[in-house]
Amino acid sequence: MKFDYKRVTGFLSAIAFTGVLLGFAGNAVSEEYDEDTYGPEAPIVFTSPVKAVIFTHKLHTMDVGLECDSCHDEIFEMEIGSAEANGDYTMQSLYDGKYCGACHDGDTAFASDTRCTVCHIGVKGFDRMFGSPKTDSHSGGNH
Ligand code: HEC
Ligand code: HEC
Ligand code: HEC
Repeated sequence: MKFDYKRVTGFLSAIAFTGVLLGFAGNAVSEEYDEDTYGPEAPIVFTSPVKAVIFTHKLHTMDVGLECDSCHDEIFEMEIGSAEANGDYTMQSLYDGKYCGACHDGDTAFASDTRCTVCHIGVKGFDRMFGSPKTDSHSGGNH
């Protein structure tokens, strides 16, 4: 059989081109979020003492690259609600280097006495996420 150089290279570059397309497609679809690797996917929203502060594992693990043990269990328990139950989950604690303030000190991450609204989504932000008592269509009836 005669070796058809043009056909073979044409075929190979078609494969390479497909590979490039698949590569682009692969990049366009964001990496699968794996909770074992990155922690719970749903944002954690603190409502006490003040409503409401948002924390996302995705940002801190997947995006920023922190390991679980940079927070667990010395800074935070692996249990939603434990910091809020301690009675000292306040800005003063953060300024003293506890909780979020262990990193949000203007050194490792932006300081806790700046950019309030990046962490604080407020009552309005909370209602946007979970529905306000007035507008939430699911809340009618049972209570
Ligand atoms: C930047 C800090 C930080 C990092 C890093 C971090 N977490 Fe968390 N995690 C938290 C905070 C804050 C809470 C809520 C604790 C609280 O409410 O007291 C939490 C809670 C949890 C919970 C409890 C969820 C529930 O429903 O009660 C699990 C499970 C968890 N984290 C797993 C992980 C895993 C797995 C990793 C590593 C892939 C990780 N976390 C990395 C801060 C972090
Ligand atoms: C182990 C270190 C660590 C802890 C603890 C930590 N963070 Fe962060 N956080 C970071 C780093 C690093 C960044 C990315 C750098 C930056 O934005 O300054 C970040 C970024 C953020 C951002 C994104 C800011 C933006 O530009 O969009 C928010 C919001 C945030 N953190 C909230 C929190 C809250 C709330 C807590 C406590 C519940 C917390 N973090 C605890 C390290 C930490
Ligand atoms: C790195 C995230 C972060 C930033 C930035 C931040 N806070 Fe907070 N704040 C928290 C967390 C976490 C709590 C405790 C949880 C809650 O109250 O929902 C809290 C609680 C509070 C409280 C109630 C407890 C107390 O200390 O009296 C007030 C008021 C408050 N923050 C004001 C502010 C103001 C004002 C700023 C900006 C100057 C700010 N916070 C910036 C995370 C942050």
